Amino acid sequence: MKVIVFDNAQSAAQYAYNQFEQALKDGATTFGLATGSTPEPLYQLLRESDLDFTQATSINLDEYYGLSADHPQSYAYYMNEQLFHAKPFAHHYLPDGTNTDPLQETARYDQLIEDNPIDLQILGIGQNAHIGFNEPGTSFNSKTSLVDLTESTIQANQRFFERMEDVPKQAYSMGIQSIMSAKKIILLAFGENKAQAIYDTVEGPVSEAVPASILQNHPDCYILLDEAAASQL
Ligand code: GLP
Repeated sequence: MKVIVFDNAQSAAQYAYNQFEQALKDGATTFGLATGSTPEPLYQLLRESDLDFTQATSINLDEYYGLSADHPQSYAYYMNEQLFHAKPFAHHYLPDGTNTDPLQETARYDQLIEDNPIDLQILGIGQNAHIGFNEPGTSFNSKTSLVDLTESTIQANQRFFERMEDVPKQAYSMGIQSIMSAKKIILLAFGENKAQAIYDTVEGPVSEAVPASILQNHPDCYILLDEAAASQL
């Protein structure tokens, strides 16, 4: 993995944007997209750009279980607001949080990923080093699954919801094996509260206790940080 530390999040987002632009020029057709506050500066740059995604496909990492696409806290809603309304893709896919048949939904999503191999995958990271919603202990061989969120993840997500009891306790998430199959991966992390997770990811052993640590084994992975997230390296 290549670790690059920037003065601030905006410069890191600009670097990620340049990689996006280059990937499109090089013929990339499928982009793996992430949610959370971290990729927002990147999505702003994409929205304001003249890049054209009308021939491209996007596949998102995850979706809250039980939330429909028109729920303001759903990741489908987030993606429309952050990107798709300004930059439509030929196809954009997210897990369907309203599908109450996990076997069917996870099989559908795995098939989509198989049919659309990801050229460039964007990742954020959780404070416990989760990627997508793959919490510590998830098998590195995992594919899409319905995940029980950890208490710390539920609490970290609480800021987006009015009441604690509204925060979903489960989510559909692309698996770690699928994330690792992307040709290129860019992980973004900003702020002091990600410093420990970044230290464990970059300098710790590759271990299922630290989901993002598997990225050490990816052949083309960039970790883009601001100084606060890099402060323990
Ligand atoms: C959620 C998402 C992750 C994201 C993480 C961090 O758990 N499923 O994909 O990386 O939040 O969010 P933030 O970027 O807001 O810190």
